[in-house]
Amino acid sequence: GKSGYDHYMLKEIHEQPRALRQCLRGRVDELSASVDIGDLGDLSPTGIQFVACGTSYHAAFYAAQLFQSAGIPAQAFLASEYATSPPPIGDALVVGVTQSGETADTLSALREARHRGARTLAVTNVVGSTAARECDHALYIRAGPEIGVAASKTFSSQLGALNLLALATTRSDEARDIIAALRDLPGQVQELIDDSDAKEVAEHYQDAKSYFFIGRGHMHPVALEGALKMKEITYKHAEGFAAGELKHGTLALVTEDTPVFATTVGDGEQATKTVGNVKEVEARDAPVVAVTDGQSDIERYADHVLTIPETHPRAAAVLANVQLQLAAYHTANFLGRSIDKPRNLAKSVTVE
Ligand code: F6R
Repeated sequence: GKSGYDHYMLKEIHEQPRALRQCLRGRVDELSASVDIGDLGDLSPTGIQFVACGTSYHAAFYAAQLFQSAGIPAQAFLASEYATSPPPIGDALVVGVTQSGETADTLSALREARHRGARTLAVTNVVGSTAARECDHALYIRAGPEIGVAASKTFSSQLGALNLLALATTRSDEARDIIAALRDLPGQVQELIDDSDAKEVAEHYQDAKSYFFIGRGHMHPVALEGALKMKEITYKHAEGFAAGELKHGTLALVTEDTPVFATTVGDGEQATKTVGNVKEVEARDAPVVAVTDGQSDIERYADHVLTIPETHPRAAAVLANVQLQLAAYHTANFLGRSIDKPRNLAKSVTVE
């Protein structure tokens, strides 16, 4: 059952600390700063291609960034486009990111890759799913069953598991810091949920017709995911962008009626540039909701702040996304939407 929550989605948002602990359990050794995901650790890919749909595509996009930063050529593809314009595979590992393991578009991209001689790996929540059975390897995200149609805890656990994959198969000078950040993540997610102001933000902007989400680097996939969640469960227009891209056209739509959720962490160059983009939307009188660890001066230009604890930027992506999940959830709840079963959507999409 829903264990006292109004919706499965809210229950599943609250289950994230536990789901993340489960994902990491027995796989991370802090003393030696090493990760053990069994045979998968021996894969040492020279190139990696991710295929996925929807929320899982956003996780795949984030994962491609992790491998790129380790010097491994990596790309994320929308599974439904993969076979239509097939990229050169070479000896790349092809990774299907799929919560259900049953998404037709993703299965068919993985079959295409196998047909062309690639080794394949399924990153999935469901043991014995078609993706897990058909791929050469499987990495389980261990989030537990997700009932709400909109993916929430499984996205966070995908990011956790994909970090483990990157740590186990590549070298990183930051491994120790990343592992420490992953260890702290479940507790930080709990802290964030307990203190979140997302409900007030949702109440304030529930009548907006359109929402925008911006972020750079790891916060770009988070912006895309924030917008998708908002669309799915509120039935309102929402779009996510790389922070620098909004001004290349969509700024024309930004008015005092379009709240902009802007995510920054740290006080480095990326944060400074995003703050610059925030000034542009603020100058058009758009309400700004800053999702931030408080290190940059974004709060000066923001009407509301959703705080995330300080951590490594990789873990910050998970935290920022939880704030956006809560903002979407509460907005949909104020609007009286069918949150666990949004119109027109199914939990697993078995047609192409
Ligand atoms: C969004 C959502 C969908 C799925 C997509 C892929 O909340 O749930 O976008 O992420 O249909 O599903 P899986 O991960 O099962 O392949």
